[in-house]
Amino acid sequence: MAKDYIVKDIALAAFGRKELDIAETEMPGLMACRAEFGESKPLKGARIVGSLHMTIQTAVLIETLVELGADVRWASCNIFSTQDHAAAAIAEGGTPVFAIKGQSLEEHWDYLDKSFMFPEGANMILDDGGDATLYILLGARAEAGEEIIPVPQSEEEEAIKKQIAKRMKETPGWFTKTREEIQGVSEETTTGVHRLYDLHKNGQLPFPAINVNDSVTKSKFDNKYGCKESLVDGIRRATDTMMAGKVAVVMGYGDVGKGSAASLAGAGARVIVTEVDPICALQAAMDGFQVTTLDEVVGTADIFVTTTGNKDVIRIEHMRAMKDMAIVGNIGHFDNEIQVAALKNHKWTNIKEQVDMIEMPNGNRLILLSEGRLLNLGNATGHPSFVMSASFTNQVLAQIELFTKGDEYQPGVYILPKHLDEKVARLHLDRIGVKLSSLDKEQADYIGVSVDGPFKPEHYRY
Ligand code: NAI
Repeated sequence: MAKDYIVKDIALAAFGRKELDIAETEMPGLMACRAEFGESKPLKGARIVGSLHMTIQTAVLIETLVELGADVRWASCNIFSTQDHAAAAIAEGGTPVFAIKGQSLEEHWDYLDKSFMFPEGANMILDDGGDATLYILLGARAEAGEEIIPVPQSEEEEAIKKQIAKRMKETPGWFTKTREEIQGVSEETTTGVHRLYDLHKNGQLPFPAINVNDSVTKSKFDNKYGCKESLVDGIRRATDTMMAGKVAVVMGYGDVGKGSAASLAGAGARVIVTEVDPICALQAAMDGFQVTTLDEVVGTADIFVTTTGNKDVIRIEHMRAMKDMAIVGNIGHFDNEIQVAALKNHKWTNIKEQVDMIEMPNGNRLILLSEGRLLNLGNATGHPSFVMSASFTNQVLAQIELFTKGDEYQPGVYILPKHLDEKVARLHLDRIGVKLSSLDKEQADYIGVSVDGPFKPEHYRY
């Protein structure tokens, strides 16, 4: 049989397997899912398309889904984030995976297309950033003769349109059929969740979606504590620059910004924050950071990191005003936070993979990380396993919920109930030696909760 995977080098599988074995010891939530559901196999019959960074941690997620009975096909959601040894281990284990670190944008959409090619058709999506969902919904629009709504980046828009046209020619009606067969989608990140709420608002979301990002045990942990470890890791692996004493600007002080600012401060950098939201600006100030505008500090800072999930945050005029050898990177989902396209006609010198030096018209040079794509996954290996275990346990519970009870949900965007959020946290306590106190009945009654939780009302913000 022809091989049903595209990886850089299948010989890397043994190395990948060793790292997977280590990761399993740091992912207690996923291992608990295997213990709880491995026998009953609630995902039997699920044919899950995964579009999420193909890392070692994701490999543990994939093998968990398979152990719960699912058939899985996988693509990465970013051209630079794949760990080739992880992809090789998954391919060798028999799960089709299409992901290479440094793949082109055309390959990105082609590989995503390939990950949908179950002989019986896909029926579930596990998404990160919304590309898999978007591919099907835009394709179905195109088949209905409707306009393709714009996607965030112009480069990306061209590539996705090309891939949609190719699939429409090869298999007429495929998008519409696939859209009808998808029972639900679970979405990993803030940016993908924005896309889902937008689609729903415009009446264009045909199936239920679970917003995994807004489980407390996802966004308040992965986005924050994950970035706290992986941001500086990415900058160091890319540049080996001395962090202590440098002036670093973090744009955005949401969950990712909070983790990123803490990461840089922990390394000894002097951190400045920019924000548009007065609440987050006040939080940054009270956490001890100077808060000002990019224009004020663009000519004097050494390191610039965007964390906003917004577009055009660092613009060409900012980059022209930066000092020689300023380091510029992004940790938000898409590369359009930085106007990288406006640098294309400048002189680029590639230093090593995912690190470029760009000469500006005034002679100053910038070090650009991962061409503006998320640098913690492009220049390093993303978040550590332990925090990804919490995120991915939410993913597994969301897939089970949508696959087994999807018909109880109307199309729309949902978050997992609080008791499951608390369960995910609970599963991670033992590994780090946390001892939980407990309430007696009288205390529980006094604060109006049950002895076993949930311990907070829905409106509580953590
Ligand atoms: P968030 O919504 O909590 O935070 C974004 C913050 O940026 C908000 O406080 C907003 O007011 C601020 N902001 C928006 N436009 C701005 C501007 N022009 N200037 C300054 N501040 C601005 O979102 P979250 O969860 O922090 O996620 C941010 C991005 O990071 C998203 O794209 C998300 O998908 C991505 N992400 C990346 C991860 C990684 O490992 N690289 C992990 C988790 C999320």
